This record gives sequence, structure tokens and C-alpha cells, in this order.
Amino acid sequence: MTANSFRRETLERSIKGGKGQSERHDSAHKHVAGIAEYIDDMPEPAGTLHLYIGLSKVAHGEVTRLDLDPVLAMPGVVGVLTAADVPGLNDISTVHKNDEPLLAERVVQFWGQPLFGVLAQTRGEARKAAQAARIDYAALPHVNDIAAARAAGSALVTADITFLRGDVEGNLAAAKRRVEGSIAIGGQEHFYLESQIAFAFPGEDDEVTVHSSTQHPSEVQHIVAQVLGVPFNAVTIIVRRMGGAFGGKESQANFFAAVAAVAARKFGRPVKVRPDRDDDMTMTGKRHDFVVDYTVGFDDEGRIEAVDAVLAARCGYSADLSSPVMDRALFQADNAYYYPAARLRSEPLKTHTVSNTAFRGFGAPQGMVACERWIEDIAYALGKDPLDIRKLNFYGETERNVTPYHQVVRDNILMRLVEELEDSCAYRRRRAEIIAFNKSSPVLKRGLSLVPVKHGMSFVTTAFNQAGALIHVYTDGSIHLNHGGTEMGQGLYVKIAQILADEFQVDLDLIKITATTTAKVPNTSATAASSGTDLNGMAAADAARQIKERLIAFAMEKYGVARESVAFAANTVLVGEQEFAWADFIKDAYMARVQLSAAGFYKTPDVHWDRSTASGSPFFYYAYGAACAEVVIDTLTGEYKVERVDILHDVGRSINPAIDIGQIEGAFIQAMGWLTTEELWWDERGQLRTHAPSTYKIPLASDVPPVFNVKLADWSVNKSLTIGRSKAVGEPPMMLATSVLEAMSMAVASVADYTLAPNLDAPATPERVLMAVERLKARRKPS
Ligand code: MTE
Ligand code: MOS
Repeated sequence: MTANSFRRETLERSIKGGKGQSERHDSAHKHVAGIAEYIDDMPEPAGTLHLYIGLSKVAHGEVTRLDLDPVLAMPGVVGVLTAADVPGLNDISTVHKNDEPLLAERVVQFWGQPLFGVLAQTRGEARKAAQAARIDYAALPHVNDIAAARAAGSALVTADITFLRGDVEGNLAAAKRRVEGSIAIGGQEHFYLESQIAFAFPGEDDEVTVHSSTQHPSEVQHIVAQVLGVPFNAVTIIVRRMGGAFGGKESQANFFAAVAAVAARKFGRPVKVRPDRDDDMTMTGKRHDFVVDYTVGFDDEGRIEAVDAVLAARCGYSADLSSPVMDRALFQADNAYYYPAARLRSEPLKTHTVSNTAFRGFGAPQGMVACERWIEDIAYALGKDPLDIRKLNFYGETERNVTPYHQVVRDNILMRLVEELEDSCAYRRRRAEIIAFNKSSPVLKRGLSLVPVKHGMSFVTTAFNQAGALIHVYTDGSIHLNHGGTEMGQGLYVKIAQILADEFQVDLDLIKITATTTAKVPNTSATAASSGTDLNGMAAADAARQIKERLIAFAMEKYGVARESVAFAANTVLVGEQEFAWADFIKDAYMARVQLSAAGFYKTPDVHWDRSTASGSPFFYYAYGAACAEVVIDTLTGEYKVERVDILHDVGRSINPAIDIGQIEGAFIQAMGWLTTEELWWDERGQLRTHAPSTYKIPLASDVPPVFNVKLADWSVNKSLTIGRSKAVGEPPMMLATSVLEAMSMAVASVADYTLAPNLDAPATPERVLMAVERLKARRKPS
């Protein structure tokens, strides 16, 4: 064999687990075997104290007495914690400063607000003792929801914004037709399996280390430093993995880490805090519920002329992430459609309820559900198939392509994607069959809906679009990988490892994925906005390229070859005619004193956004998808089933098809739960009464549609220069479940021969479906 043919063969061999391969999640086997370590599994050092939090029992009031003596007298109790024990600032607010105390001082603003802490030898003792506190309140008036906030003239919790393009009044006045309507869209509890948790270890001097179940280690670091009154460099945050997060640990983990750190400082002992499920659900923020009021002008064909909409949300008592969440709702209230004129206004209302927060999609699902509702209204007004109205209004590829925020859509694949799904799931034939079925079936009615998704990718706050990675190659050739992203089950770690395997051309099992920590990669952004792979993958690739550059320079010098003669392929380094095993080559490089460690960095190019003018180009690219759902409802009881779902989704060139499909399936089912059975309910006193799985119904395995076809649009390649031309996948498929809500609408509409829009609010619980059926029957013209 000649050296050249050998070289060709080596180059053609492929590594195990590179980009594009369906590698399993790195912890999958540990998840199922119960040996993946979560914070609550960590061995507790001697002296560990358990912290439990005492919560407010009124929605709004002044605390006139906080007597913790009975708590201190309870068995096992070591001490208590109040606002007075906070050595630094008693404030854990993120975006706006000073509207969110760690522990309430005088006024409480929602039922379940943290008031004090109890430290005991065991968690059971601490939890029990917390109930013994004697607290008196002088009640203040409270507002529960959007309607009450509007009636009370309640303040906005953060600045509103208006997106404006074109002549809205003029177009509305000139439009041949118009619809006006309103839709209420419910909130959602994250229901991560691992509840919030933090374990704080006091260190030397002012130091503290906190194991936190957070999507945002750097922000936890900042908040812990703020409450302790120490510089950031005194605080180290470690996150190996979360047992689910879904946006619920983007800012909501701050409280637990901060309160554990304050207690660890006060008592000089390790402190762990973990609320039970009921308290977790009561005291942490959720998806914002919305009411969207709209007027839409259109022509006789169903082409939209103007959209005028107000998107109001229950934000809760503090700003938290409400401002960016509501902006996101506006950003996606166009979904896939071109509006010649649009005015979209946000109304972030303050209420005396828990402060609502990030949840997968970050406001986008609410904006999109509203948008699909007016599309549906247009279809019923004209007696047309909603899919035809959708296609008529799709963004154009070269014209009709400017969004309400003035970004031009340049990578539109909507028509191809939707038509491919339309064909593959036999939409037209099945719709005709369903209409025929509904005519002859008096009680059971079916519905079918095909809905597209377009989702803008990037953090709208331009500065957050940066990431770092730290890579060490050890002298046996094994590789240590660290980056700023956190693992919450979504498969980020394995994807980044695959990217690295590809860069170095080594097998995946040579790479050790290590816990995220502020001590290795600093100043990170939250693992959020689905950006984990886009940002950290690029940063890791950058670090790998730096090390490779040094290895190439070493090879050129040692062997006197040209740059082109050095190649990395299949666990081998090729230098001219010679071939070295990866580990041998690394050892040689070490002996020659080549630096085998590098810090990588990435920032997304070409994104900008000016909130003061509501214009810019905030998204690096768009991710697309489409779903078709078929449901059957029982018009006597309102019960329903989702019988079949077909999805075609765009992830560009997939880094890991198995993981990506898992994300699509999971997001779809999670959003199906949001739009159907998951209902949050606060009583008139402002107490959340749906705080356990007994009263809050998330989808079960048995709710997965019996026919569930999920396919990647494998022909799609990201036009923007992302890692491997892939696209982010975490959130966009969430919105595909709008198809379920719309399919239920169609089934309901059948009782009035599809002539009346059913106005089904979300979640479409059986009760709501039944009421919608009754409403339409009453309005139906006698035939
Ligand atoms: N998948 C799992 N299994 N668990 C999660 O908590 N969070 C979602 C999504 N997929 C989540 C998940 C949310 S809200 C986001 S923003 C992305 O994952 C974050 O990770 P990524 O940026 O790596 O996609
Ligand atoms: Mo996801 S809501 O951006 O954490």
C-alpha cells in the first residue's frame, strides 16, 4: 500500500460520534438507571443544615407580626432566617432592580411569597417547623388577574412597547372586511421533575460555592454576591445537570441559591434547600397568561391588510423577565404571515400573584396562538379552509417579506415545508373525509388542522449572544470539555461534544463532558432562547481550532512540511507521508512544549435591535416547522382525544437527529398539555389552588397521539453561518401544538356547519370545549 492510498483511506474512515450522528444522550443510561447525580443525591457533609421556607398566606398585605419563637422551639431546629439576616442587598430582582426581595420585609405581594427560613437537622423537621410560625397581616386590596388589573387601573410592571409598521388606520378603513375578537390564553406550570434546589458550602474568607439547579449560573453568581455583599469572584456556581428546567430555572433558581448562601454564611455550615412540589408550584413563576384583543382587516380572498392587536399579560408582582417575554410575544404575533400594516402593543400588567417568568418559547407561543386565531376567524368568515388563508398570507421570498419589527425575512422555506407535509399527511383528502364524517356523526366530531411555525433565533438583547468554552487536551489524548451552557435534559452536552469530536477528528468517547461552572467559563448567558448549541458549539469549535493551529505549527516545524500536508482524520494526525495515532502525536506535542489548552469565544454576527424605535434585525435566522393534528371531540361531554399528529420540522443540518427529534416530540407534547388540560387556577383570595399533579393535569405517556410521525426537513441547510449549518431546536416546536387547538376548533365549528368561529380559549379543557359547542349550537341559524 502506498503512503498516498493509505492517507486517502484514513481520510475516508470516520470517527465514532461526530456531527450528524444520532448519538444517545450522554446521561440517558444513567437517567433510566437512577445513577445520574442530581443535587439532592450529593453526599451531605457532616453538619449540613436543611433549610425550609415559610411563605406568606395572603396575596397582599402588611405583616404586622412575625413571631418565630414557636418555630425555634420545634424539634431539630437550629435557627431561623429573616430579611434582617441578609448581609448585602435584600434584592434578587434581575432586570429591574429592587422589586423582588429575597425575604419579604414589611409588605407581601403574593400568596406564597418567601417570608422567613427555618434551619434544622433534617428537612422533615425544618418543613414541619415552618408551619409553626405566628404571623399576622393587615390585608391590602389585591388584583388577581388581567381583568381585575385593568378594572383597578393597575400599573404596568415594566415598560410596554408598540411595534408599528405601515398605515394601520388607513388599511383597516380601506379593507373590505374585518374581524374583531379576543382570545384568552392560559399560563403554564413548568413541572420540571427535579424541583428547585440549591446546596451552599461556605468557604474561606468571603467565599461560597453553590450547587444550583439553574439555567443561568452567572446570574446566580451575581445574585448570591449581591445578597452577601461580596464581589463576584468570591462566588462559584456549579451545575452538573438539571432534572428539567423549561425556562423555570432561568431566574427562578436565583432565590434558592441566594437564600441557601445567606444561611450558609450565617451558620457557617453547608445548607441545602429544596421545596416540596406544592410549595415549588406556589412560590415560583410560570408562563404568562394572556388576553389578546384584535382587529384584522382583509380582502375577499382572505389576504390580510392590517392587524391591530393588544397583547395583555398577567405578569405578577415584579418585573422579572416580563419585559423580554412580552416583547417576544409581539415578535411572533406575525408567525408566518406578512402584514402590510401592523400595530402590536404589549400591556404587561402588575398583579398580586407570583411573578411570571420564562417558559419554553418565552412569550412566542402566546403571540402565535393569537395570530393563528385571527387566521382562523378569517377562514370562518369566508367559509374557506384555514390552510388556504395561511398559504395566501405567507411571507414572500423576495417581496412581502418585512416583519412588524422591520427585519427582512431572507431564509423563508414556508411554502416548501408546508406543502411537503400537506402531501405526506394527506391533508386535503383527510379534511374532506372528516367533513363527511361530521355530517353523519351526531355526537362525535372530528377536526384537522395544519399550522406552520416561524421562530426567530437569537437573544433579542444583542449582548447575550456570546459564549465561551474551555478545552484541555491531556497528554494521553483525552479531552476535557467545558462551556457556558447548562444541561437540562435537552442534550446540549452531547451535541457540543460531537462538535468537538468532529473538529479534532477523534471518537466521541475520548471527550469528557464536565459540569458547568462560573470558575471555568465566566460571564455566560443563560442557557435559553434555544441558543445553547448555536453559541457554545461555536465557542468550543473556536477553542479546538486554536489548539489545532498550534499542533499544525508544531508539525510543520518538526517535520519540515507545508501546512497543507498536515491533516486530522479518524483519530490520526497525518503529517506528509507519515501517520500518527492521536495520543502519540499529543504526547510529542507536549514534549515540545505546545500549549494544549484553549479558551474559545463566539459572538453572533449581524444582529441588532433598538427597543426605543422597535426596529432592527434581532434574529440571526429563522427556524421553521409545520404540524398537522387530528382530534375527535365528544359534543355531549366535551371530552377529546388527539388521534394523529404529523410534524415536519426544520433544524437545518442536524447535529444529532435523535436528540433533535426528541426535542420536537417533547416540546409538542408539553405544548399540547398547555393548550388542552393544564389549567392554573387562583381562588378569590389569590391562592393558587392547582399546586399538585392531582389538580394540575400534565400530559401522560398515554396522551401521546397513537399516530405520531415526526420528521426532520433533512433538505434544509441554514443559510446563516451557524455551527455546521444547523438550527436551534429547543423552543420552536413548542408552537406546533397550536394545530391541536385549531383542530379542536374545527371539530367544535362543525356543530354550526363551519359558519361561525368557535372562539375556543386555551386551555381547551373538556369544560371549555363543551361550552364552546353549546355556544355555537345556540347561535346557529335554524335550518
Ligand atoms: N428539553 C429538556 N429535556 N428539558 C428542558 O428543561 N428546556 C427547553 C428546551 N428543551 C428543556 C428542553 C428550553 S425552555 C430551552 S430555552 C432550551 O431547551 C435550552 O437549551 P438549548 O439552548 O440547548 O436548546
Ligand atoms: Mo427557554 S424559555 O428560553 O429557558
